[in-house]
Amino acid sequence: MRIDVLSLFPNMFSGVFGSSILKQAQESGIVNYSVVDFREYSSSKHKKVDDYPYGGGAGMVLSPQPIFDAVTALTNNSESRPRVVLLCPQGQRYSQAKAEEFAKEEHLILLCGHYEGYDERIREHLVDDEVSIGDYVLTGGELGAMVIVDSVTRLLPGVLGNAESAMTDSFSTGLLEHPHYTRPADFRGMKVPDVLLSGHHKNIENWRHQESLRRTWTRRPDLLENKTLTKDELDLIDD
Ligand code: ADE
Repeated sequence: MRIDVLSLFPNMFSGVFGSSILKQAQESGIVNYSVVDFREYSSSKHKKVDDYPYGGGAGMVLSPQPIFDAVTALTNNSESRPRVVLLCPQGQRYSQAKAEEFAKEEHLILLCGHYEGYDERIREHLVDDEVSIGDYVLTGGELGAMVIVDSVTRLLPGVLGNAESAMTDSFSTGLLEHPHYTRPADFRGMKVPDVLLSGHHKNIENWRHQESLRRTWTRRPDLLENKTLTKDELDLIDD
């Protein structure tokens, strides 16, 4: 998979792309990241990327030319049609489902803006998805792009050591994850639940499912709204 990020602050990405699992994913050829400073595509003498808003008002607006030309250049040297994603607070809320959708693409282009906003023609004619990472306003789209890169990369086959761990994550199953314990079985009087020490796989699986459900019900009941629960599951959260 190829992921290109368009940003005026490419340095922000060096720590993220150069560390841990994302670094290994790039080194093993599973994913190829690049960060492009779209100022380089500005055709103006002073490499301007923004301008005053028509109609007046506060703040600057990102001009269409540098961004259109940068995306065209990246598209022209791509083997597939890239999916162009714009990071902005007005976008659709990012989710695990969206990460799974993006992970199926061959080429993503993530557009990070700063300033007051983007010229509307970028939204209308260049972008496939507008994504927000939450209901708050950041100084730019870079942190959002990092969230997408991280959550998508870990879903690519071969990136996580244990293939199962991405499948049983919180959200992939539609439920929050069950509690985890490791040794010792008794830490300063705080004990690991007996069932986990029993070696009885079926009981352990049931316990984990029940705890997932209970945890989802108490912390994120909204996740259960569109889920059909069995009678046993309903009894459990009724307790
Ligand atoms: N840019 C500014 N705020 C943002 C947000 N919440 N999500 C994505 N991009 C943004």
